[in-house]
Amino acid sequence: MDNSFIWPHKDLLDVTQLTVEETTYLLDLAEQFHEVNTRPVKKVPTLRGKGVVLFFAEDSTRTKTSFDMAGKRLSADTFSLGKSGSSMNKGESLKDTALTLEAMNPDVIVIRHRSSGAAQFLAERLNCAIVNAGDGWHAHPTQALLDLFSLRRYWKGDLGGKSLLIMGDIAHSRVARSNVHMLTKMGVNVRLWAPRTLLPAGVARWPVTVYGDLNEALTDVDGVMCLRLQRERMAAGLMPDISEYASIFCLNRKMMERAKPGAPVMHPGPINRGTDIAADLADSVESLILAQVNAGVAIRMAVLLALCTRTGLSEE
Ligand code: CP
Repeated sequence: MDNSFIWPHKDLLDVTQLTVEETTYLLDLAEQFHEVNTRPVKKVPTLRGKGVVLFFAEDSTRTKTSFDMAGKRLSADTFSLGKSGSSMNKGESLKDTALTLEAMNPDVIVIRHRSSGAAQFLAERLNCAIVNAGDGWHAHPTQALLDLFSLRRYWKGDLGGKSLLIMGDIAHSRVARSNVHMLTKMGVNVRLWAPRTLLPAGVARWPVTVYGDLNEALTDVDGVMCLRLQRERMAAGLMPDISEYASIFCLNRKMMERAKPGAPVMHPGPINRGTDIAADLADSVESLILAQVNAGVAIRMAVLLALCTRTGLSEE
């Protein structure tokens, strides 16, 4: 790894801002932290004295916990704030909440928000580093980085020319958007399949191959990523019958026989067993679902370190 590399970005808002070199730097850094996370003592002093605020105005299990764990394993102090329990419930705006948090001198604010552009809004107004932990339908950059990290490991470093099918509710998915940018930039051929009502407007301009037939989309593919039906973001009428969807499109072992032997199955979570993915496939040896969660800690350690390196590490 190139230790002289200087991280150029104040914030991490979307993977579109990352070059191949910057992406590879983060993945290589995460490999080192992946090893740290297997030690009996999973802690390094690198970010001692740094403060990381976890401002999650939308629910999360994986992203919030792994950012918290990542900060603590780097010896930073982490502080959590959710919409519930905050003064946003008394009418305080996003801007005033963010300015209030910054007045306490954190080094990084990690934000999840239901509005696309919320992280950018903060980045333009605050001096501390902002990390987008998911904003509306727009982007989820650390999810795309951890997915890439998991695939790079599974495919033994060989990303170029591989194919990955992303299937399910593409229209409402920030994970799909960030993964399409990230994977295509790194040389992966991305296939998409969704019911017609769950394909995003403008998908014809995306650098992907869109399939109308799921069996065709699965044929000889090197890996599959299932997405959850995001009913909380869906307008009425887009998906009238979930059980009918599940009976036809829930990914199962039989369907995976069309893919290349050993092709991994991914899901960003939370999974809906029996709707997005069959339970036995989710628990199979080809499933990377828990490896993705595990990678999330290492990737978020790499991101926090990269952003804090710009502002200087502890003086000792
Ligand atoms: N993948 C993901 O963002 O999961 P959480 O909503 O649990 O953070």
